[in-house]
Amino acid sequence: MRRVVFNQKGGVGKSSIAVNLAAASAKAGLKTLLIDLDVQGNSTHYIVGERSEPLPGVEDFFQNQLSLYSREPIDALIHQSAYDNLSVMPSGRGLLELEHKLESRYKMYKLKEALAELMSGFDRIYLDTPPALNFFSRSAMIAADRVVVPFDCDTFSKQALYQLTETVEEIKADHNPELILEAIIPNQVPARAKLPKQLIDDLKADSLPVSKTTLSSSVVMRESHEKAKPLVYLSPKHRLTQEFEALFQELESTK
Ligand SMILES: Nc1ncnc2c1ncn2[C@@H]1O[C@H](COP(=O)(O)OP(=O)(O)OP(=O)(O)O)[C@@H](O)[C@H]1O
Ligand SMILES: [Mg+2]
Repeated sequence: MRRVVFNQKGGVGKSSIAVNLAAASAKAGLKTLLIDLDVQGNSTHYIVGERSEPLPGVEDFFQNQLSLYSREPIDALIHQSAYDNLSVMPSGRGLLELEHKLESRYKMYKLKEALAELMSGFDRIYLDTPPALNFFSRSAMIAADRVVVPFDCDTFSKQALYQLTETVEEIKADHNPELILEAIIPNQVPARAKLPKQLIDDLKADSLPVSKTTLSSSVVMRESHEKAKPLVYLSPKHRLTQEFEALFQELESTK
């Protein structure tokens, strides 16, 4: 299964959700790969921490697609993390410079081809995307079979969600008939506020696939990022960790 976490809005929890679902998957015994397609590299840092030398990864993969001759094997771009069953294909700083060349040379299917090959070595692949509908997020939605969308329970975000569902439908129709909008995941939901609950009910009333599990807000998330330790390893008993595990189980049970 290839799950992409996407929302064109920034700061809604894409990287946090991609990494923590991937970690829950690895902890459940599934061989899991996280691919970081965002030039910011937040999920790469979240899993491997700060490094003086960047690891080869997504940037090298796309650079190779522009050359007919120097195609290193993709295995060299995938790194086992400090956690069992969890590997990462890191982001790279040069991604944005590559974007225009990749687009003008029609390389949007290259990631899909690579993932089809990689699926023999992994049970689950998670893709983290940038906060934009660009070459990389489109490539990810062409390569994946499920999209999950973090939702920050904001009125403007609700309007943007309807556009996003149209984008997913268009990619499905034009490029990837397998693609399913699997879940909209309410993130950082305050315990008692009325507006978020109303917004979530509105989405459900419009038949959008809102996850049953919602994620609360906690400072443990920042600590988890800072220590480069996903929640299932940092704080297994924490409420937010248990919500992530419940979310993982919920997604896995709707095959
Ligand atoms: N459930 C949560 N509780 C507390 N903080 C959270 C939670 N989810 C995300 N955050 C915080 O919100 C910020 C944005 O999260 P994150 O980086 O995952 O979002 P993003 O959508 O990937 O952002 P970008 O669009 O920039 O890639 C981070 O500082 C993160 O620690
Ligand atoms: Mg991010």
